[in-house]
Amino acid sequence: MPRDRRDYFYRKAKKEGYFSRAAYKLKQISEKFILIKKGDTVVDLGAAPGGWLQVAKELSGGKVLGVDILKIGEIDGVETIKGDIRLAATMDRIRALIPKDGADVVLCDAAPNLSGNWSYDHGRSIDLATSALECAQKILKPGGNFAVKVFQGDMFLDFLNRVHRVFIKSQAFSPAASRDPSAEIYVIGKQFFSGAVVLNREYVVTIEDIGANGDGIAKINDFVVFVKAVTKGETLRIKIRYIKPTFAFGDRV
Ligand SMILES: C[S@@+](CC[C@H](N)C(=O)[O-])C[C@H]1O[C@@H](n2cnc3c(N)ncnc32)[C@H](O)[C@@H]1O
Repeated sequence: MPRDRRDYFYRKAKKEGYFSRAAYKLKQISEKFILIKKGDTVVDLGAAPGGWLQVAKELSGGKVLGVDILKIGEIDGVETIKGDIRLAATMDRIRALIPKDGADVVLCDAAPNLSGNWSYDHGRSIDLATSALECAQKILKPGGNFAVKVFQGDMFLDFLNRVHRVFIKSQAFSPAASRDPSAEIYVIGKQFFSGAVVLNREYVVTIEDIGANGDGIAKINDFVVFVKAVTKGETLRIKIRYIKPTFAFGDRV
């Protein structure tokens, strides 16, 4: 991105009262992927100085919680925690502040202090992004959404695959407000599910019951899978055809 365009977002943030130019990245991500809806509980990891928190609060109007090792600016109606997102103790503090049934959205724009050594900085960024994913897996409601910043490098695809396994849709995205040439990219996960089943994978299941609409009900790792044209007690091989946050459909193979 040319310097004048970078300055454009910097000046725009100043003029519009955002604590960071990064605020526009979240606006662009959320517009494209509809990450945050009215009333959502949003947890933002690596949130200082607070531009994303301002945008999250505008979009949700619900409970918004920011976490950073640095102090976060005061934002009306936003709670904050000073803590390291890699620590279990910080996760416990987050859990204590969100509703019992979990969060709707987990965001992470955390970045390590850059050393200038590309692969070292990449490794530390993957470390932070992995902590954010683990947090998301612990606190997101089924169907919840996730966005995390990662500096690209050789561990990026592995990370993207991890996200892919526990969200029904996942994608890497570079918002226009990102600096260019920048190594940063955002990984978006939509519709969190437990990851108990894998799309197109085959499983041997036993039909435990028949549901109200006549479909057989099997369970794989406690996850409900509906199968058509089966009888109760039957054991068969199925292929997962379709996954929703709290159940899946499988076909006899
Ligand atoms: C690019 S800034 C976030 C900007 C923010 N999204 C905004 O709009 O204002 C990255 C932040 O990640 C934080 N950070 C880095 N490592 C962290 C860690 N282990 N735990 C918590 N925060 C961390 C940094 O302190 C820094 O404030």
